[in-house]
Amino acid sequence: MSAPAPARTQVAIVGGGPAGLMLSHLLRLRGVDAVVLEARPRDRVETRQRAGILEHGTVDALREVGADARMDELGLPHDGFELRFAGRSVRVDMQELTGHRVMIWAQTEVTKDLIALRLEQGEPLVFDAEVLSVSDVETDSPLVRYRHQGAEHELRADVVVGADGSYGPARRAIPEHLVRRFERVYPYSWLGILADVAPSSHELIYARGRTGFALASMRSPSVTRAYIQVPNGTDPQAWADEAIWDELAARFALDDGSFTLARGPITDKSVTPMRSMVTEPMRHGRLFLAGDAAHIVPPTGAKGLNLAVADVRVLAEALGEWFASKDERLIDAYSDTVLRRVWRASHFSWTMTTMLHVDPDGDPFDEQLALSHLHHIESSESARRALAENYRGLALGAV
Ligand code: DHB
Repeated sequence: MSAPAPARTQVAIVGGGPAGLMLSHLLRLRGVDAVVLEARPRDRVETRQRAGILEHGTVDALREVGADARMDELGLPHDGFELRFAGRSVRVDMQELTGHRVMIWAQTEVTKDLIALRLEQGEPLVFDAEVLSVSDVETDSPLVRYRHQGAEHELRADVVVGADGSYGPARRAIPEHLVRRFERVYPYSWLGILADVAPSSHELIYARGRTGFALASMRSPSVTRAYIQVPNGTDPQAWADEAIWDELAARFALDDGSFTLARGPITDKSVTPMRSMVTEPMRHGRLFLAGDAAHIVPPTGAKGLNLAVADVRVLAEALGEWFASKDERLIDAYSDTVLRRVWRASHFSWTMTTMLHVDPDGDPFDEQLALSHLHHIESSESARRALAENYRGLALGAV
């Protein structure tokens, strides 16, 4: 059980997803107290299926806070990935091109480990805490009001962090006229499946098939995760299992016939819409936004979790410095610093998305541009290196 939540803390964190939880751990290492308020029940947070690729910076952060034991035991390090188009395959060797690998370790598992660690430490983490308002962020003592088990509570803090996702309430504490919002909605979605069958390939495959995108991923040596591009508004239950496997097989097919898709029982089906969103600034007074509360990327390239962790690494450093010395330079720079990375990742995710999906409203010109980009990656080592560097994650100074 977690400790009862105090009525006053240094940092009130709205949102107990990976961003909020990771921040609470990084702050604790810097001697800063925090209370984490999560709107959903624990089992819901721990069972939501999300992406599964960790950049090395995210892996480092999990090591720093001590949430790495299960990742090291069960995570799958990957040196490279495959692109497929026009019936052939190109391998992008990240390890050789950039000296770094990525780790397949599902966001769901990361979240479970961060929760378990927080509760083990006896630090405040409240589930089923519905935040009613975030106010006084222009004063030095902001206030979060929330409802928990039928009673209303007040939490006063020196700082509030909104890590409550793209529909969370924290962002609304920034006056509308100060906010700039950028958005792109893509004309397709992903149908994702989990299946009890060994992955067909030991590396991930991103394919631009004739009828659309497909991705072959994995969750373990015996569990396949895969996605196909579908029209917006698709009902996942309208897709029969065999039809999904047929479509995956068609989109991954190689002209030389050398690829066989392994099929098995599908245990989960869901549809994810694809959109990009950035809100600026990510700070107003004593309110700081982190992760999906400030930005969403389409899933192609798996940047969402990695961006959220990158945000809170910068924020923990800045808040740690400010609480220790009252030096405001890092907290003042926070929004601009992390937005540079957010826009880089937004561009990378847009590139991967548009290069690999078939736009239902597109024309042959779009098709030729996408194929030209893939041909360039196939024939140019520097193009492959640039792709690999973005995929495995850029150091802040290289953004
Ligand atoms: C996964 C999801 C992604 O969006 C991606 O680019 C790679 C892998 C996944 O869920 O495994």
